[in-house]
Amino acid sequence: MSSSHYAIELSKLKMGYGHHIVLKDINFNIKLGEFVSILGENGAGKTTLFKGILQLLPIMDGKIKILERDVTKGKDKQWLRSQIGYVPQKQSMGKFPISVFDAVLLGRWGTSFSYLKRPSKEDKEIVEETLEIVDLSHMIHQDCRELSGGQCQRLNIARAIVRKPQVLLLDEPTTHLDIDSQAKLDRTIDIIRQQYNLSILMISHDQHHAESISDRLVYLKNGEILKNVEMVQ
Ligand SMILES: Nc1ncnc2c1ncn2[C@@H]1O[C@H](COP(=O)(O)OP(=O)(O)OP(=O)(O)O)[C@@H](O)[C@H]1O
Ligand SMILES: [Mg+2]
Repeated sequence: MSSSHYAIELSKLKMGYGHHIVLKDINFNIKLGEFVSILGENGAGKTTLFKGILQLLPIMDGKIKILERDVTKGKDKQWLRSQIGYVPQKQSMGKFPISVFDAVLLGRWGTSFSYLKRPSKEDKEIVEETLEIVDLSHMIHQDCRELSGGQCQRLNIARAIVRKPQVLLLDEPTTHLDIDSQAKLDRTIDIIRQQYNLSILMISHDQHHAESISDRLVYLKNGEILKNVEMVQ
């Protein structure tokens, strides 16, 4: 089969927790290379949608296709993990001293190296190249716990893309950042988008910011997609 037209396809998607139905009927697609932002109130189910796409939470009904592959059967988790980079909503750096380099290298765990296989020269080169892209090369030996909020988010993005995924999910990446750090993160996202030809789905609570950075906005309300707005460039 030739290359697919869609990075993500969501049809009649229903998700929730026990008897609590959060997403009733979600239908929308993301084209290859497209950058879509999801807006919606707190508790609307934005993060839940990501959990479905990542198969971290089983769906109740409907279908999710990633790069034309139906992933809701649950047998493609490893493949899914290699295709999707994920920056979670709240990600703390943990309590352990670990360098910026090692934190990003860990993002490649399970690809070319694992328990019995050491990271290759190529793994290390890719980590260095990725740190260059997110502008953290000068902090390569720094302890992760000492990074600022903006640096931390650039590190999280580096860790998400170091596996060279085709799809990137960002859950409110710029929340709590000051204007300058937000602008810098936006530039980073722009660069990786082009460099890796990524399809991006970003959760945001800031409509103006989402408008400025994405191709399209979708609004989530009462478990459904309320509006679908294409940006005019
Ligand atoms: N693990 C869970 N168990 C039970 N209910 C949950 C769980 N996680 C989320 N929920 C509920 O599902 C609904 C949607 O939560 P979700 O985290 O997807 O919202 P959100 O749109 O990401 O909100 P926010 O903007 O605050 O991040 C909420 O009512 C929440 O209480
Ligand atoms: Mg959320």
